[in-house]
Amino acid sequence: MQDIILCRSLEQDLTRAVQACPHDRLFVLTDNHTLCHCWPLIAAFPCMQHAQLITIPATDEHKTLDTLAAVWTALQQGGASRHSLMVNLGGGMVTDLGGFAASTFKRGMAYINIPTTLLSMVDASVGGKTGINFGGLKNEIGVFNCASSVLLDTAFLRTLDQDNMLSGYAEMIKHGLISQTEDWAELMRFSFDKADYALLQQMVAKSVAIKERIVTEDPTEKGIRKALNLGHTAGHALESLALEQGKPVLHGYAVAWGLVCELYLSFLRTGFPQHILQQTLQFVRAHYGSFPITCKQYDRLYEFMTHDKKNQNGIINFTLLADVGDIRIDQSAGKEEIMEMLDFFRENV
Ligand code: GLY
Repeated sequence: MQDIILCRSLEQDLTRAVQACPHDRLFVLTDNHTLCHCWPLIAAFPCMQHAQLITIPATDEHKTLDTLAAVWTALQQGGASRHSLMVNLGGGMVTDLGGFAASTFKRGMAYINIPTTLLSMVDASVGGKTGINFGGLKNEIGVFNCASSVLLDTAFLRTLDQDNMLSGYAEMIKHGLISQTEDWAELMRFSFDKADYALLQQMVAKSVAIKERIVTEDPTEKGIRKALNLGHTAGHALESLALEQGKPVLHGYAVAWGLVCELYLSFLRTGFPQHILQQTLQFVRAHYGSFPITCKQYDRLYEFMTHDKKNQNGIINFTLLADVGDIRIDQSAGKEEIMEMLDFFRENV
C-alpha cells in the first residue's frame, strides 16, 4: 500500500520519499500550468537535481493515448528503465496519466504523487486508480497500481481558484457522508469566504484517511470501495450531458449535483434522513449553483447512466445510504425511480 504523507516540510518529506525508492533515473511529470506554478517550489531541492522534466498539456481533453505515448517516448529517450522513478506533480489528470505511464513502461516503474489541486489530494492521487480517457469515455483504459508515496501539502491550494477548490470539496462532502455525521456537519459549516487553511489542512487529512481506510479494505473495488462512487452515477451523467452541450463543468460540480440526486434516491429507497438531504441540498445550491435540466433531457441522462462502468448485466447500479455512514452498495434502481430522482433534481437545483 502507498505511504500517505501529510507534509510538514515538503523538502524533507520528498527527499525521504525519493530515497525510499532506489532508482537509476528520476523523471518529473508536470503539465504546462504546474511547470510554471508548482515545479519552481521543488526544483531547487537537492533531491531533484538530477530530475529530467517531462511536460504535457493541461486539462482533461489531453488525457489521451497521444499524450500517454508522448510520455512513454520521453521516458524511452531519457533512458528510463524499470528501476527508474517518476514524480507526478499536478492535478488528477497528471497523477492519473503519469501513474498509468509509470505503471506500464517496461512493465512498471515506481512513482510518487504530489497532488496540487484539492480534487487530486482528496481523491485522484490516493488509491491507485490510474488511466486515460478513450473512445469518448472517461478513464476507460487504466490499471490499479498505487503510488509508492503521496505527498499532501495544502500550501499548493493557496493559489488554487475557488471553482477548483469547490470541485475538490465535493469529494470531501462525499467522504463525510460515507463516514459519520460529525464529519459531514463540519464540512457543511466550513466558510469559503474567509478560508481557514489550517482547518482545511485538518479536514483534508480526515478526508484522505476515510478514503484510505476504504481502499485498504478493498483496493480493486470488488465491494466496499464502491462507497466512493456515491454521487457519481448521476454526477457522471450530468457531466457528460454538460460536455455534450458544449458547456463542460468541473468534475466536482457534477459530483455535488449527483450527490443531491443520489441522496434523494437514498431517501426514497433506503430511508435516508430528510433533514440531512435538505441541508446538503442547501449547501450545494449555495456553493455550486444550479444546473438547469428539462424533462426532454431525462432520456439522455438515463442513457448516460446505462453506460456507467459500475453497472452489471445492463442494470444501473447506485451506491446509496440509509444514513450518514450507513452504506448500501449495489443498489439497482428502476427507470421510474430514476425519473423521480431527476424530477427532484430539476425542481430543486
Ligand atoms: N474515485 C473513487 C475511487 O478512487 O475509488
